[in-house]
Order: sequence, then C-alpha cells, then structure tokens
Amino acid sequence: MSGKFITVEGIEGVGKSTNIAHIRDLIEAAGIDVVMTREPGGTPLGEAIRGLLLDPRYTGMSPDCELQLMFAARAEHLAKVILPALAQDRWVLCDRFTDATYAYQGGGRGIDVEKIARLEQWVQGDFRPDLTVLLDVPVAIGLARAGNRGALDRFEQEHIGFFERVRQAYLDLAVRHDGRYRVIDASLPLARVQQQLDEVLRPFVHAR
Ligand code: TMP
Repeated sequence: MSGKFITVEGIEGVGKSTNIAHIRDLIEAAGIDVVMTREPGGTPLGEAIRGLLLDPRYTGMSPDCELQLMFAARAEHLAKVILPALAQDRWVLCDRFTDATYAYQGGGRGIDVEKIARLEQWVQGDFRPDLTVLLDVPVAIGLARAGNRGALDRFEQEHIGFFERVRQAYLDLAVRHDGRYRVIDASLPLARVQQQLDEVLRPFVHAR
C-alpha cells in the first residue's frame, strides 16, 4: 500500500470543511489522486448509521450503543472505501476517524479507553492514519461558530463541559501520538491557518 491516509480532527466549529478543501487542493496540486470521505459515514450504510447517531430524537442513547455504531460504520467504511482506495495507490483524506472516538466517546462520554482500544484493534488491526491534522480552537470560539449554523444535531446539543473534555482528549492524543499528529491553531485568521497547513502537508506531498 503506498497511498497515504490523512485524517482531520477537531471539535465543532474549528473550520473543518474549509480546511479539508484546502488540504485536498494541496494534494491535488501535487498531481496526487485523493478520495475525500468522512466519519461517521462515507458509505451508504455508514451514512444511514450517521443519521441515527446525529438524530436528536435519540438524545440519551447509551454510550456503548453510540460507541459500537461508530465502529460498525467504520468497519464498513474501511472495507468498502478506505482500504480499496489505498490499495489502488490513491490517497484518502478523511473528515474524522478513530481519534474522534477516543475524544468524544472516551473524553466526552467517559468510556474506558481500554474498551475503545479493543474495538480499534478488532476493527482495524494495526491500521492507523499516516497523518492526523488536529484543528484546535478554544471551545467558546468553536461553539459560537457552530451555533450559527442552524438546527443542532445530537452532539452539537451537548454542553460546554462535554466539549472541554473532547478538546482536552484530542490535545492529549496529539502528545501521545506526536509522530503522526500535527496541531494547528485554527483560531488564527484563515490565511494563517492555511499557511500552517501548507507547512504540514509539504513534506508529505513532496516525499512522494
Ligand atoms: P461532523 O459533523 O463533524 O462530521 O461529525 C459528526 C459528529 O460525530 C461530531 O459531533 C463528532 C461525532 N463523532 C463521534 O462522536 N465519534 C466518532 O468516532 C466520530 C467519527 C464522530
């Protein structure tokens, strides 16, 4: 497998969509074929599971149900999209992956990290991203941006303490996995954020 698997993470309102589009442009400008996808979702079945996970009608879903739906969607995504694309030497740019499970279900919901690690090993074996870009902003800024987008999904309805724990879990993951993580200060003006992304991506696209 010689394609690269790049994931983008962060709490709500960090500007993921805009910045993922910028990363895609950087990769494509180097003449590399990239597949853009997201989690939960990325396949017809995964998108149906996403619908269940985000639906505010299921507020109060048990944390274990939420955790297993995340990994169910991920198993389908790996089998149908991610691994086949990498096997064809394409790059995969994914809006969230298993680090989001450690951050939201682990940090946010308080699920034991060992339990998540067991599911990760079961579903992925030793497969991990080559690069994880963490877009980081203080929670108050992220939530203010996300709150302007209209109807809130089941996660967006969570309280500020939940997102503080999610953000901290991401920052802890970035320290633990500093080889593959790059933390971007996404509270800066867009041009400065994109400048940081250019620097992070340059060695990857040029090493090819
Ligand atoms: P998105 O709207 O940013 O694509 O993400 C959907 C929501 O799903 C977001 O609030 C984070 C949450 N999520 C988890 O809780 N665990 C996970 O493993 C993933 C991939 C997403």
